[in-house]
This record gives sequence, structure tokens and C-alpha cells, in this order.
Amino acid sequence: MKKNVVGSLLLLCFLSIVDMACSNNNSNTNSMSTAKITTQSFGTFEGKPVTEYTLTNGNGMQVSLINYGATLTKIITQAKDSTWGDVITGYDSLAGYVQEGNPYFGATIGRFANRIAKGTYTIDGVTYKAALNNNGQSLHGGLKGFDKVLWDAIILPGDSSVQLNYLSKDGEEGYPGNLKVQVVYTLTANNAVKIEYTASTDKTTVLNLTNHAYFNLTAGKSPNIYDHLVQINADKYTPVDASLIPTGEILEVKGTPMDFTQPKRVGQDIDKVTGGYDHNWVLNKEEGLQEIANVYEPTSGRYLTVATTEPGIQFYSGNFLTGSLTGTKNGIIYNKHYALTLETQHFPDAPNQPSFPSTLLKPGETYHQTTVYTFSTK
Ligand code: BGC
Repeated sequence: MKKNVVGSLLLLCFLSIVDMACSNNNSNTNSMSTAKITTQSFGTFEGKPVTEYTLTNGNGMQVSLINYGATLTKIITQAKDSTWGDVITGYDSLAGYVQEGNPYFGATIGRFANRIAKGTYTIDGVTYKAALNNNGQSLHGGLKGFDKVLWDAIILPGDSSVQLNYLSKDGEEGYPGNLKVQVVYTLTANNAVKIEYTASTDKTTVLNLTNHAYFNLTAGKSPNIYDHLVQINADKYTPVDASLIPTGEILEVKGTPMDFTQPKRVGQDIDKVTGGYDHNWVLNKEEGLQEIANVYEPTSGRYLTVATTEPGIQFYSGNFLTGSLTGTKNGIIYNKHYALTLETQHFPDAPNQPSFPSTLLKPGETYHQTTVYTFSTK
């Protein structure tokens, strides 16, 4: 009997050790798979509800987005000292996002990201005029681009992706064709924010989609990005005129302030470029998804890599930020060069530049684009 009791106790002990080991395993497995999405009301726009979706992965990284403008509102990542911080610019509430002069913080840009000279272009002999909103040019889709409309959002199975859908009607902002566009944001288990775009049209149109998140990898600790190290895998860029319209040339970066082929402090040559960086780099890449740029911020240790299927990237150093925006997150003053964007795209003014990759989308074709921003520390 005594033996039995000892035996049972030993067995219990063994079982509980196994159980502990198992539950440790479980908690690891769980922590890898505890992707979740929460929602909260973010106000109303044109009488319709705006919702903020917050995606959390098993490592605790969070990405938030709203269906107004299919806009990224927060990307919260860990620094090398294990503290968490929000690495993109934004506002505390919807009022910030809808304010006049919001410089497209975190938004989805379309129908045509970047500039079209005088908003004018011709398809099959028909001349179209996109809405002018930037010194006589059309910028980022015109007066009411995809950043200023409400998208329909759906949480996808798996609790790590949100899909946003928008129908841009024929003639909207001067663009032909009913365009069905879809953006899927995914927060992956390896701390990547994946953005997948799909679109189709019923008339030939031009299309150039991007995301306009502004990054400051110190998460608000530095008022500028001069000490961020940027590397862009591009030997060439497209120079622009005074209106920031490409001249049509494709020039070598070598020996110029535009050379980011090796990691370089943003502040190193920024004064040699009028206003700062606001250019399209011609990526050294084949077709398909490829890592083409990275940013390292030494004090936080945060490291961001950018992969894309697109042929170009607009590296913009926040030249037109003036510190005048209201309702900013934690009251941060976003002054000139506070943050930078890495907008993966087709080249600016492509509809008027026959030597640039085409931005035409025809009926029966499907537009696909993928861009992945991956966060780590080193
Ligand atoms: C453009 C800038 C523009 C900014 C607006 C960038 O994508 O390249 O010229 O001022 O968007 O926020």
C-alpha cells in the first residue's frame, strides 16, 4: 500500500513535469499563434462609421489601420532595449486625418501615386485631365484621392489580415473606367507588414498605387531622421524639374548626393539637394518581390527592410512638414525632416513618359502589387 502511494506520488510528479513541459510548449506555440485583431470606433465620415483595426502578432508587435483612406495609423515595434514605440506619424483621432493639409500620413494613394504633369495624359488618342491639386500638377490622385474616401473593410480568416475594398467610379477625379481596388494588410509572425494590392477596370486607365507611411524609427525620440541610415538598391534615379515632374532622364546616382547604394546617414548630403530628398529611385531588380531598401536607426537599434514588386521607390524626407498639423499623436510637432517615406511605386508622370514602365491597366487584366515592410533590431 505504502509502495503504491509512493508510486502514485512519483507518477503524479512525473505527469506534472510532463504537463509543465507541455504547457510551456503550448504557451510557446500559443505565443506564436496568438495573432489577434481588435476593433474600435474611430468616428464617422460622411455619416458612415470609421473603424480602427488593431492587428497584434505573437511577439506583441501591433499595426493599426482605419477604413478612412485605408490608412495605417500605428506601427508599434520593439527597440533593442525591449521598449515599444510607434514608428509612424499620425493623429490621435479622425479629425487629424481629415484636416486640410494632412500630408497623406499612412494612407493608401491612388488612382495615381505621385505626379502627373498638368494632370494631363492620353490613352488611345483620348486626352484625360486628372484633378489638379499641386501647383498646376496632379498629385496622389487629385483633390479626393483614395486617401480621402471610405473603404469597406473585412477581417480575413486567421486573425492577421484586414482586406479593404473600394470602387472608384468611371470619371472619378478625371480617371477613366470603373476601377475595383483591394488592399490587404497582413501582420506576419516575423514582424512584417505586408501590403497586397489588386485591381481591375472596365476601361483602359492608368494606375499607380502606394502607401504613404512616414517613418521615424526613434518612435518620437528624435525630431528628425538625419541619423537614420538609408540604403536603396538603385544605381539610377529620375531627376525632376522645379515642379517635381521628371525630366524624362534616367541618371546615375554614383558621385551624387542621391547615392544610397551603401547605407548612408540621411543628414550626410541632404543639404546638397534643394529642400531634401523627394525623388524616385530606379530599383536594380528583376520582376517579382525583392528586398530593395533598408533603414537603420542606431540609438533604438530598429532596422526596417523594404521589399516590393514595384520598379521604383520615392524616398521623401518629409521636406514639406511645417509643424503646423493639429491633433498629432501625443502632440508631437512634425517639423521638416521629422520622418521619411519609402513609397514603392511606378515612376512619376509615367503616363507621359514613354520610356518609363507602363502604368496602363486594361480591361481583363489584373493589377497586382506587393510591398513588405519588415521590422527587427540589431
Ligand atoms: C511627394 C512629395 C509630396 C508629399 C506630400 C510625396 O509622396 O513626393 O512631393 O509633397 O508626398 O505629402
